[in-house]
Amino acid sequence: MTSVAVLSGDGIGPEIVHQAMRVLDAVNTQHKLGIETAEHAFGGAAYDAHGTPLPDATLAACRNANAILLGSVGGPKYDEAPRELRPERGLLRLRAELDLFANLRPAMLFPELANASSLKPELVAGLDMMILRELTSGLYFGEPRGIEVRKGVRTGFNTMVYSEPEIERIAIRGFEIAMQRSRRLCSVDKMNVLEVSELWREVVERVGQAYPEVELSHMYVDNAAMQLVRAPKQFDVIVTGNIFGDILSDAAAMLTGSIGMLPSASLDSNGKGMYEPIHGSAPDIAGQGIANPLATILSVSMMLRYSLRQPGAADAINAAVSSVLSQGLRCQDIAGDADTQNITVVNTSAMGDAVLNALKASA
Ligand code: IPM
Ligand code: MG
Repeated sequence: MTSVAVLSGDGIGPEIVHQAMRVLDAVNTQHKLGIETAEHAFGGAAYDAHGTPLPDATLAACRNANAILLGSVGGPKYDEAPRELRPERGLLRLRAELDLFANLRPAMLFPELANASSLKPELVAGLDMMILRELTSGLYFGEPRGIEVRKGVRTGFNTMVYSEPEIERIAIRGFEIAMQRSRRLCSVDKMNVLEVSELWREVVERVGQAYPEVELSHMYVDNAAMQLVRAPKQFDVIVTGNIFGDILSDAAAMLTGSIGMLPSASLDSNGKGMYEPIHGSAPDIAGQGIANPLATILSVSMMLRYSLRQPGAADAINAAVSSVLSQGLRCQDIAGDADTQNITVVNTSAMGDAVLNALKASA
């Protein structure tokens, strides 16, 4: 028995997870995977119902599951909540409690969507890169942190901290991913200013000695941001820390036309993982039934590949998504200049229907 914990969360989360679950149910039956799913309260919805974004029962269920499927969390409604109880804190705590330190954020351009990118099509055609973001340390988790009065002045502070073992394990993941791809790894840091980056670079270099086939390069984060929008195809795998990865992965996602297309995986050292779209809860369009469910559907595919070891079912979902795009179906976020092409703009559930139909047609 394989179990998947499902956390729909907030905003568009429930709408997109609903479609992703239909797809998971379909491949579960088609490929006889024996997967059981159960929903649990998480994020703002859990704060409303239980007074905490991560109830103990949800954490326990996630610990016991083989994988976790997450929609999205947060929304303006919770800006007033105590900082410790905000939905985002629940997400950070879940990542930390489950030691999901390796965050894989692919940025790949579906050929059909070259016009949806904010960059010229020739700069992004064929783009297929992977950002590996360290997810359970660095600036997000470093102590001390807080807001306090120092010599009569209110002062906010956080600490960017990485230990050698933390750098080592994410670097190893980076080299291993590079070995499976084009054997190029770019480590992004801010070594010219930060001591934490000095150690980062030293450890990445040392780990690299065990991977002589991988061509390792280093780049400062400000330059990396510029290069991403100047010539993104120079990158294959990027490995970087928590805050730099947060920022660069949003930029990389936008290169592909829509953040609404991209899945992600957050893995521990045993292959257990949490899978979620890269985009957020999009409170501005929540409840309208127009959100793009494809990033969440592709997150199910990543889950089947990385945690549940069902590459056949994962490939089937990817093929179904490609087929739907080549039929000209788009949610509004990736519609681009819809009337100049053979494009039909569809809503969330119609997109789910189309993926299901494509799955059936290929079975
Ligand atoms: C992400 C998000 C989260 C992060 C937020 C929601 C806490 O931006 O997954 O990239 O900053 O890690
Ligand atoms: Mg982010």
